[in-house]
Amino acid sequence: MSEPVTYINDQGVALITIANPPVNALSQRVRAGLLAAVQQFGADDSAQVAVILGEGRLFIGGADISEFGKPPQAPSLPDVINAIESCDKPVVAAVHGAALGGGFEVALGAHYRIAGADARFGLPEVKLGLLPGAGGTQRLPRLVGVEQALTMITSGTPISAAQALEHAVVEQVFDDSNMRQQGLDFARKLQQQGAPVRRTGELPRPAGDAALLQEWRTRLERSARGEVAALVALDAVSAATRLDLVEGLAEERRLFLSLMDTPQRAGLIHAFFAERQVAKLPELAGLESMKIEHIGVVGGGTMGAGIATSALLSGLQVTLVERDQEAADKARNTITGYLAAAIKRGKLNEVQRETILNDRLATVPDYNALADADLIIEAVFESMEVKQSVFKTLDSVAKPGAILATNTSYLDINEIASITARPESVIGLHFFSPAHVMKLLEVVVAERTAPERVASAFILAKRLGKTAVRAGVCDGFIGNRLLSHYRTAADHMLLDGASPYQIDKALKAYGFAMGPYAVADLAGLDIGYATRQRKAADAHPRDRYPAWADELFHLGRLGQKTGKGYYLYPEGSRQGVEDPEVEALVAKARQQAGINPRTFTDEEIVSRYMAAMINEGARVLEEGIAQRPLDIDVVLLYGYGFPRWRGGPMHTADQRGLKAVLADIQRFAEEDDHFWQAAPLLEKLVEQDSNFASLNHP
Ligand code: 3HC
Ligand code: NAI
Repeated sequence: MSEPVTYINDQGVALITIANPPVNALSQRVRAGLLAAVQQFGADDSAQVAVILGEGRLFIGGADISEFGKPPQAPSLPDVINAIESCDKPVVAAVHGAALGGGFEVALGAHYRIAGADARFGLPEVKLGLLPGAGGTQRLPRLVGVEQALTMITSGTPISAAQALEHAVVEQVFDDSNMRQQGLDFARKLQQQGAPVRRTGELPRPAGDAALLQEWRTRLERSARGEVAALVALDAVSAATRLDLVEGLAEERRLFLSLMDTPQRAGLIHAFFAERQVAKLPELAGLESMKIEHIGVVGGGTMGAGIATSALLSGLQVTLVERDQEAADKARNTITGYLAAAIKRGKLNEVQRETILNDRLATVPDYNALADADLIIEAVFESMEVKQSVFKTLDSVAKPGAILATNTSYLDINEIASITARPESVIGLHFFSPAHVMKLLEVVVAERTAPERVASAFILAKRLGKTAVRAGVCDGFIGNRLLSHYRTAADHMLLDGASPYQIDKALKAYGFAMGPYAVADLAGLDIGYATRQRKAADAHPRDRYPAWADELFHLGRLGQKTGKGYYLYPEGSRQGVEDPEVEALVAKARQQAGINPRTFTDEEIVSRYMAAMINEGARVLEEGIAQRPLDIDVVLLYGYGFPRWRGGPMHTADQRGLKAVLADIQRFAEEDDHFWQAAPLLEKLVEQDSNFASLNHP
């Protein structure tokens, strides 16, 4: 194995280069190599200046995340960085690509920093449930002041090279980011000038204003939703305002290690690796994917217009087909509005919008316009009859080899595929609303879908900036199938005495972005009604029916879009107000079912909701609808507002212990053994004293 850190003396300039692909993470070998190189520089009388460089696409991507949770191995990163800062000859960090987390902390330990124009500087540790633990919370406030340091540390958002220059984080930014050459030239200048060492840690302690720190605390507490890292990071930065460097670093280390031991850190790091793992499917390795440049979209309603926008923003050609010219024009208007919003968000400029609208988007009422499309996505009404008729037409107009995709939420894609003469080309691409914003995409693989089409769908997802998860065909695929089950658990609690508002509040307090009834109002109560109608034929006599939900629908209370649903939305507000009329409707339903209402604690609400989600997750796994527990976690994190710091439902189940989850289900089954039937996979894992994680990397 080649050494990850090399030392070369280039005519008096020591070039210390880190090469640890893919992101030069600061693994134990890199830390040891860096420390050795710094010591060699100290002892090398013929070198006057050192330059630290990263090889490959970026400077340093941070500490090695895969080492977290394992016993620490010397040398520690703070020790390495202290050694860099203590050098009595100048050390330059020459940054290209990115200096993130521990990588930025290495740069802060150097005496001079220069950057390529493409470089980003950031401390994203809070996104992993941590805080900068190698001096970042002590050195950055000394360099840029408390306010800017807090902005970077508590958000985790990196700044550009230009911003770094503005905040005097770097001395100089170069358009040419060949940092080896720039670093050498810069070092030679320092050499000639006999420039001194400049230790960030020796800058005066930053001024800490108690009112400012309190203001930050209040703001962070308001947005934290149970997540602790940013608040603890604030404690560490506060320490920098009170303590000298050595004491401050010790306090930072103490706080860093306290976070390292939390389930939040484990949850966030699980999410980090899971979202990178979802696209890695052994079955697709080595397969050729087809080139997709021209997308057809059928139906320009809520979803079709969003999908078209997403494709346009990713540089693709789009032909959208609607039923008539009027509907086609309406879709174009919707897309134009979405593009205007993208301009406001700085994602697009006026010229680009004009090019898109004039050259890359066609909105027509003619299916023949789809003849050239590489992939066609259908987003018409959720009806098998309508979809099959659309697919019959697509089969006759699409070019050979084109992928025919459906955005159906629930319908059987095998049945849709069967109407065509090319079922191997038919696939589900289940986008989430709004499709140009939401990152999740379920790639639904039907019985006869060819693996090459699946591989192409994953490539397309990447191009669209989506996180794609493979799912199999069933009612609702992964996400909506779980949703239907945990929503039923919530409805049962409602019937038995809980209020929708208590349920929503308990789940928000647990960390969900929204509770299930606020979600229902957002999606539209007509969707739930249509689902109940569709499933009516399969109803079991012991199913407990949410009669009040039908009443809400018949009253025209369809949620936010009608100003009333489970909540009232006065004057177009998106903030719902509780409504006693809804509680009265639920009370009537209880009475009709002969139920004597009881109270629920928030804890019980969460246990039942989570148990239902996990149990259905286990079923989805044993049926092969999801291939790995991490796929389910990513779907829930990206599409259903699951708190990221809890890592997803299957990870949460492991953290709690599957035995405890099963015991909950068995306890709930004592009063309802129809709904609460433990999934055989869950029972098997408990029997084997195993966990879901064991199925992630079998
Ligand atoms: N440690 C270990 N592995 C890492 C890593 C890290 N810090 N960063 C990325 N990787 C791995 C990824 O898991 C992925 O592995 P895979 O190919 O097996 O899936 C591979 O490197 C490439 O990563 P990406 O696909 O994300 O590559 P991109 O080019 O899209 O992005 C990046 C590069 C911007 C560096 C991105 O990977 C990233 O954001 N990484 C995490 C950065 C971070 O959070 N650093 C802080 C770490 S905590 C810390 O430093 C603590 C310190 O204060 C003590
Ligand atoms: P929508 O009602 O807003 O839009 C459907 C559009 O299809 C209408 O504009 C209609 O004119 C057009 N259309 C109908 N028949 C057509 C035909 N034969 N040819 C061309 N155009 C035709 O519906 P929405 O919400 O966009 O849903 C579309 C599909 O996406 C459905 O299958 C739905 O289940 C699915 N979906 C919806 C989500 C949502 O949140 N709305 C989320 C994910 C999937």
